[in-house]
Amino acid sequence: MTSTIVTGAAGFIGANFVLTWPYASAGPVVNLDKLTYAGNLQSLESLAAQPAHRFVRGDIGDAELIRTLLREEQPRAVVNFAAESHVDRSILGPEEFVQTNIVGTFRLLQEVLTYWRDTLKSDPSFRFLHVSTDEVYGTLGPKDPAFSETTAYAPNSPYSASKAASDHLVRAYHHTYGLPVLTTNCSNNYGPFQFPEKLIPLVIHNALAGKPLPVYGDGQQVRDWLFVEDHCSAIRAVLEKGRVGETYNVGGNSEKKNLDVVKTICAILDELKPRSDGKPYADQITFVQDRPGHDRRYAIDATKIEREIGWKPAETFETGIQKTVKWYLDHHAWVHGVTSGDYRKWVEKQYG
Ligand code: NAD
Ligand code: TYD
Repeated sequence: MTSTIVTGAAGFIGANFVLTWPYASAGPVVNLDKLTYAGNLQSLESLAAQPAHRFVRGDIGDAELIRTLLREEQPRAVVNFAAESHVDRSILGPEEFVQTNIVGTFRLLQEVLTYWRDTLKSDPSFRFLHVSTDEVYGTLGPKDPAFSETTAYAPNSPYSASKAASDHLVRAYHHTYGLPVLTTNCSNNYGPFQFPEKLIPLVIHNALAGKPLPVYGDGQQVRDWLFVEDHCSAIRAVLEKGRVGETYNVGGNSEKKNLDVVKTICAILDELKPRSDGKPYADQITFVQDRPGHDRRYAIDATKIEREIGWKPAETFETGIQKTVKWYLDHHAWVHGVTSGDYRKWVEKQYG
């Protein structure tokens, strides 16, 4: 069976995607990842005995490498997760976001187009699936309807602007050249293997380390949370059944205020691993300066993917967050590896 190239699958969502990939029925995966600070081969350890998963270190912006991989693998699909993904980092240093999310996606598209034209135009099954975010739609007021696929793009951060640009390129490669693309725009994910710079793993990590739990501004910002394995099942469903050229919004129907998310995590930790002084973890909550340009509310209308494809999330926020907190408690070594610098040292040693 021909392979699928998955980019950025040493990161949070991509790793969950290749860990839950049905290798027996869907064929091999080539995982192309640059291993930035967010890429972590420790997340892929359980695939060591899976010969149908191959890891290649590289950049989606390296046209020659992409050309060679496409020629060698003759994939039936390319799924693009690779990106710089953290809003706060994009505020401090937007350049990498422009490089990877815009220029990198452009180079990848260009090589995929050439490959598709040369070898596969007669094969109607090839797909390029681009993984994007709901943040491209901007911010909502408390009573606004949720983002649908026809909501106008209005990105507010360098991260969301760079993702919006990449979405537009993907759209244009379909409209102009006929490349068979699919785009998914998903809400905030949480679950195993998320780098502890994002809200949920950061709060779990800081709580256990006895550090402050930083809540930006008034903590009343709203995000629509989706358990990562549900996002992965949505992407697989779109890859199989999505209509070429279409975009699909993916969400958990689970809007929560940031402060409530933090308090929920504290309550679960109070039960599973009480503080040694008997005090509640919520005592560690600390209000800090707000993020510049902070989007107030995201919400996803996921009726299209449910109607056309039959996808629905399996987890509620309540079940997903329980699983997630337990996972971080049970995987101390993984967390220690990514936070202590050991992992970075290992990558330098391994790859020079
Ligand atoms: P992540 O930051 O955890 O992982 C990104 C991965 O991409 C890392 O392994 C990194 O090494 C790799 N990478 C970065 N630059 C690269 C390059 N130039 N070439 C090859 N690999 C490169 O991100 P994530 O949270 O797993 O997000 C994955 C995708 O899903 C992103 O495109 C993101 O925009 C999108 N998304 C994320 C969320 C979320 O809540 N995390 C929600 C919706 C959409
Ligand atoms: P984050 O996980 O960075 O995702 P995104 O910015 O892509 O939505 O942040 C989720 C929300 O939590 C967002 O409104 C910012 C807020 N936040 C905090 O209040 N404190 C923090 O330490 C972090 C990282 C985020």
